[in-house]
Amino acid sequence: MKNYAREAISKIGGYVPGEQPRGLKRLIKLNTNENPYPPSPKVEEALKSFDYRRLRLYPDPCATELRNTAARVYGVKPEQVICGNGSDELLTIALRTFVGEGECYAYTEPSYSLYPVLSDIQGAKPLPIPLDENFDIPENAAELARDAKLIMLARPNAPTGNLPDEERLKELCRKANGVVWVDEAYADFAGSSFISEIANYPNVIVSRTFSKSFSLAGLRIGLAFAPEALINEMNKVRDSYNIDFLTQAIAKAALEDVEYMRANAAKICATRDWLSEELRKMGCKVLPSQSNFIFVKPNRPASEIFTELRKDGFIVRYFNLPRISEFIRVTMGTREDMESFLEEMRQLDK
Ligand SMILES: Cc1ncc(COP(=O)(O)O)c(C=O)c1O
Repeated sequence: MKNYAREAISKIGGYVPGEQPRGLKRLIKLNTNENPYPPSPKVEEALKSFDYRRLRLYPDPCATELRNTAARVYGVKPEQVICGNGSDELLTIALRTFVGEGECYAYTEPSYSLYPVLSDIQGAKPLPIPLDENFDIPENAAELARDAKLIMLARPNAPTGNLPDEERLKELCRKANGVVWVDEAYADFAGSSFISEIANYPNVIVSRTFSKSFSLAGLRIGLAFAPEALINEMNKVRDSYNIDFLTQAIAKAALEDVEYMRANAAKICATRDWLSEELRKMGCKVLPSQSNFIFVKPNRPASEIFTELRKDGFIVRYFNLPRISEFIRVTMGTREDMESFLEEMRQLDK
């Protein structure tokens, strides 16, 4: 049959998201780094008080109130904020804004598996930068990425969970010839941020998502912070009405209750640290995590453990990729969920 798609698209498989199970069987879902706690009560209020008649009109194309609130919370100017339909949309906008077809796009590896897919879709020249033996930014990253128009990395990294070394990241920002995109999807679990650094580098963009720490993966909203000149260029690429009315209102309400988000993040971090220790006591290797998930090398082959966990109702993530095929990634659920998970791991170890 004739294929009507661009060659760049027809030859790739596309991004494969983590499973979203349907059905009645009780499953403990620990595979896509969602938050086990509900969003803030302020979100519920915003939903209940939303006037459905507003949906007749197009939303504010600039998401002004949401950007003003974000600017206040994160200590930047509203002109330094752009909103996306999830941070994934912002990553796509970045490729389309900064990387022409055939131009060089660098991303660290192993990292978020969407990064290389974006390269294929854009028809860019992919340049994977291998992380070092500690899954940190390699010392020669700037040299390796010399020709890149855009360099993407996650801080903390996924799926390994570690924060990259601050000095190496700063050196990369200083030496890079292109834009450095710092994906902070999990930064609220690390308690540190690179956002204030946008004041120090003309080429740095930091993105955040509401999908993890704010418990709003189903809403689809992400933010990016950057010097105004970069935001202006990305705004030319962004769809005018990419954030609907309801999402603007709900995301604003969530930002007005960061204390609630931080309290949940603290609970999740405590569960993470406790579970990491317990799994280590069993002999598993657990990488130090600053995120809401852990990367675990079980005592038996990871692919087997993944399949057996699935059979028993625990969904985790397994990547059959170089350097990480011996690990499973486990999202933190409630303490109760993770006690069941630990018990299951002990059974599988027998
Ligand atoms: C590193 C990283 N960045 C971005 C995202 C996507 O976030 P969003 O839900 O805002 O599109 C994820 C989701 O898993 C992620 O792991």
